[in-house]
Amino acid sequence: MSYNLLKGKRGIIFGALDENSIAWKTALRVHEEGGTFVLTNAPVSIRMGQIDELAEKTGSQIIPADATSEDDLKKLVEQSMEILGGKIDFVLHSIGMSINVRKGKHYTDQNYAWTQKGTDVSAMSFHKVMQTLYKADAMNEWGSIVALTYMAAQRVFPDYNDMAENKAYLESIARSFGYFFGRDKKVRVNTISQSPTPTTAGSGVKGFDGFIAYSEKMSPLGNATAMDCANYTITLFSDLTKRVTLQNLYNDGGFSNMGVSEGVLEAFVDNQ
Ligand code: NAI
Repeated sequence: MSYNLLKGKRGIIFGALDENSIAWKTALRVHEEGGTFVLTNAPVSIRMGQIDELAEKTGSQIIPADATSEDDLKKLVEQSMEILGGKIDFVLHSIGMSINVRKGKHYTDQNYAWTQKGTDVSAMSFHKVMQTLYKADAMNEWGSIVALTYMAAQRVFPDYNDMAENKAYLESIARSFGYFFGRDKKVRVNTISQSPTPTTAGSGVKGFDGFIAYSEKMSPLGNATAMDCANYTITLFSDLTKRVTLQNLYNDGGFSNMGVSEGVLEAFVDNQ
């Protein structure tokens, strides 16, 4: 269902790789709500993924940009304003990658060059995106910037590996930069802490099937889907949430406030 919540708004959406991507679903929903946007991803992901199909569906242009490159980001922001015909109202940072996770390196045996690369891609890129927008004065007043995170930033999920630190860093950047963006440009900055979701990045985490089944049983409303995340993001891009900022917002079916559920307990109860 469409409510025209983003009519006339312009944005940049990072991180749509394939139809499972949270950014992909968000792009479809933003389009339905009347927003226009530029799609961007790392050049290699554009070659490997299916972003052309999404661009066609949503009438969007694609600008390749490695989110760790300040030059790429500068060009992306300049070109986006040209293509869209004005300043930006919304930005989705939906980027995450750990080489230690991808190559099966245990948390206690990290390759620190990979750790650093993962931090640059997954967390510092958010600072770089915002600094580029801020310096170019590219955001409209009452604009909204959202990044996606996971609860391993607050609690221990052993197989989430070095992504736990990356998410903690990302959430902190949202607060710190959100202060300056709010004070100087009236732009809000938030992170959405999403349930485990079957995507390329998500499924790369060791033991993901157990992870997702456990959190499904633990959450009174069940896991939030990628589409649920897209819908929540739409509200944060809309004018209905103008003074929500510096927040880490859980979209997780209630998981984050649970201690234990009956469904999980059943697995441990002796039924004799
Ligand atoms: P995805 O694999 O579809 O998206 C990750 C994106 O990051 C890809 O499009 C990839 O090309 C992009 N990326 C990687 N390196 C890049 C670079 N150097 N420059 C620009 N883009 C780059 O997976 P998903 O799940 O949609 O991930 C989106 C966000 O959601 C990530 O921040 C992820 O950590 C977060 N998240 C995912 C959860 C899950 O279980 N899938 C749970 C909570 C948060």
